[in-house]
Amino acid sequence: MADRYQQFTKSPIGRFVVPKLGLPSPTPLRRYTPGQPALDGPALVGAAPNGRLEKTLTSQLADAGIEVRTEAADGTKYGALVFDATGIKDPKDLRELHKFFHPVIRKVGTCGRVVVVGTPPELAGGRERIAQRALEGFTRSVGKELKRGATAQLVYVAEGAEDATESTLRFLLSAKSAFVDGQVIRVGTVPATGKTQVPANWEKPLEGKIALVTGASRGIGAAIAEVLARDGAHVVALDIPAQGGDLSQVANKIGGSALQLDITAADAPEKLATYLTERHGGVDVVVHNAGITRDKTLGNMTEGGWDAVLAVNLNSQLAVNDKLLAGKVLNEGGRIIGVSSIAGIAGNVGQTNYATTKAGVIGMVDDGAARLAEHGGTINAVAPGFIETKMTAAVPVVIREAGRRLASLAQGGLPVDVAETIAWYANPASAAVNGNVVRVCGQALIGA
Ligand SMILES: NC(=O)c1ccc[n+]([C@@H]2O[C@H](COP(=O)([O-])OP(=O)(O)OC[C@H]3O[C@@H](n4cnc5c(N)ncnc54)[C@H](O)[C@@H]3O)[C@@H](O)[C@H]2O)c1
Repeated sequence: MADRYQQFTKSPIGRFVVPKLGLPSPTPLRRYTPGQPALDGPALVGAAPNGRLEKTLTSQLADAGIEVRTEAADGTKYGALVFDATGIKDPKDLRELHKFFHPVIRKVGTCGRVVVVGTPPELAGGRERIAQRALEGFTRSVGKELKRGATAQLVYVAEGAEDATESTLRFLLSAKSAFVDGQVIRVGTVPATGKTQVPANWEKPLEGKIALVTGASRGIGAAIAEVLARDGAHVVALDIPAQGGDLSQVANKIGGSALQLDITAADAPEKLATYLTERHGGVDVVVHNAGITRDKTLGNMTEGGWDAVLAVNLNSQLAVNDKLLAGKVLNEGGRIIGVSSIAGIAGNVGQTNYATTKAGVIGMVDDGAARLAEHGGTINAVAPGFIETKMTAAVPVVIREAGRRLASLAQGGLPVDVAETIAWYANPASAAVNGNVVRVCGQALIGA
């Protein structure tokens, strides 16, 4: 659905009225197109003394075709500011943040990026733990201060995982992360047995891989199927038989396969395992996107409304995971990706059933990370905020406007924004990204 307010702010009258009234003026976000330069402008890289990542970051940025600067220059607009904060071992060292960012923060260009890299606090001790935890407050505040579509993220990198950060850095700096803002990401905190494989072609990292996407006939699921296919995967697009027509269209468009199956059926895990094994010899990426709502306040909610949502959004996913893992249908190094929601983080009126399942998806990630690592794989989830789909178009206008504007980026995201985040998890170079739940919400205030 068109964001009419955003269109108005760009009209001649809107450009006059909006700043006068102090209304939000959402910047059209830069989104990924193949072959596009990684960044609009150079990246300025800095570090606190004795950081362990500056050199790695610099060479990874250069490999991604980004012009790297290590000294600030007058008059330059930066595509990104990247700061290695791993040298901060004591709260007193936090001054290094001010020292690096203060002179240059106003020089971040439109849709620019700020990335702070630290050590996971839970893996540090004493004062270092305190100082590293403090980075969260800093980065989230920077995200709220940045204007014109720019974003800020914090990446905690475990010692030993330095070389495994490339896919994350590329994702966060690129236009693929357009609607990801104010997030904290952990790399290498779950001991990984899987190998980080640098793709031969970063534009086609999933070449030769099989990906299953549930609920793929429309909305976010269709976008996920398209992006994974763009990245080279053969996509098995799954949806209920009633959606068969739309499902075939999606599958045909991307050269994938359509599988009509109700994921909640008792024999669905068995059927799915047989299908994936017989047709494709297994599966590399499983995206549990299918989801439903049956909104009612708890006092009005029927048992049927509760059970239906629990079945699609959580229990069927657990049953499928168990089957694919036990039968070794999920290939070595496989990826499981859940779709949670900010409702699962913040809770929502009329959504006790839905929010229960979406918080349950986070539990599925927490519980599964170590288990997947044993198989050389990973499990992560996205938690979308307000995404422009049929579902959100049906929301009453006042709530819809609040959902869009009460976020640092002051607009709704697009299905492709969720899909790009999922493609980053699926990338063979993301083997050390395990156990994360990243919100794709434009730094929404809800549940923040
Ligand atoms: N749209 C948003 O703003 C938003 C926000 C947060 C989370 N999400 C989540 O993103 C996912 C996709 O949302 P959407 O807006 O694209 O929804 P949607 O309703 O457009 O698509 C969901 C798809 O899942 C399919 N599905 C439902 N039950 C199924 C079953 N039993 N077996 C197989 N397929 C089934 C539906 O047929 C449909 O095609 C959902 O998990 C949703 O909860 C969406």
